Amino acid sequence: MLIELHNIFKTYKMGENEVHALNDVSISIERGEYVAVVGQSGSGKSTLMNILGCLDTPTSGSYVFNGMDVSNLSDSRLARIRNLEIGFIFQGFNLLFTLTALENVELPLIYQGVGGGERRRRAAKALELVGLGDRLRHRPSELSGGQQQRVAVARALVTDPPIILADEPTGNLDSKSGGELLEFIDELHAAGNTIVMITHDSNVAGRARRVIRIMDGQVISDEMSMGPSNDQGPRPLDPKEDTEPCPQHDDSDMWYI
Ligand SMILES: Nc1ncnc2c1ncn2[C@@H]1O[C@H](COP(=O)(O)OP(=O)(O)O)[C@@H](O)[C@H]1O
Ligand SMILES: [Mg+2]
Repeated sequence: MLIELHNIFKTYKMGENEVHALNDVSISIERGEYVAVVGQSGSGKSTLMNILGCLDTPTSGSYVFNGMDVSNLSDSRLARIRNLEIGFIFQGFNLLFTLTALENVELPLIYQGVGGGERRRRAAKALELVGLGDRLRHRPSELSGGQQQRVAVARALVTDPPIILADEPTGNLDSKSGGELLEFIDELHAAGNTIVMITHDSNVAGRARRVIRIMDGQVISDEMSMGPSNDQGPRPLDPKEDTEPCPQHDDSDMWYI
């Protein structure tokens, strides 16, 4: 099992009040699944994404990721796991606006200590994969919203992570760009990638094979759906072919991708 959440609670203290953003959530996700997490605004979706993505730790409960209990790891250990194991796609793209598309995609590799030539080669390949091979030197301001999100997808993919987490990835896109992005995510799933996509849109969720519904911080249903994508089974566990050994680097960096 790639992901096991056991009785996860997340409580935010707001002065006198406590907000129970997650209230006893237990979920398991296998390698190769395409899971949509749906729920209304404020239901706890982003809180769940932050915990799944090791951006935050639960107030209580245990999270076993890829066989390791990550519930209580230090920030620097969590940063390392994020960099190596998780590809993030956010609603707001989260690109650095002073960098080119190529440089944005190179960033997670810099944090893995991958050397310059190899880094640029892999970043260019990831951008080609998302159809932006002719936009390597463009900055985000010189790209459309759909293209910016594709740069973010390339950045999520460039490390070849075992899981891709997307939080409302189509939320800032027009319907055509959003549709293209969803098709691309279908292809990633068909190629064996594990995808967890958070959305409040049931049409978007309809593409996943499994839909987990949350309300007020609790799972209210967890069902297989008839999603259109072809499940070709889990991706093999072989070591990543294209990864260089990681030299020491400063783990205190707050880079989260
Ligand atoms: N950092 C925070 N501090 C206090 N309350 C928060 C924080 N983040 C989220 N919440 C609250 O937790 C609940 C769940 O929020 P969130 O996970 O962002 O929901 P969703 O992504 O489904 O809209 C909401 O009531 C929200 O106001
Ligand atoms: Mg949210």
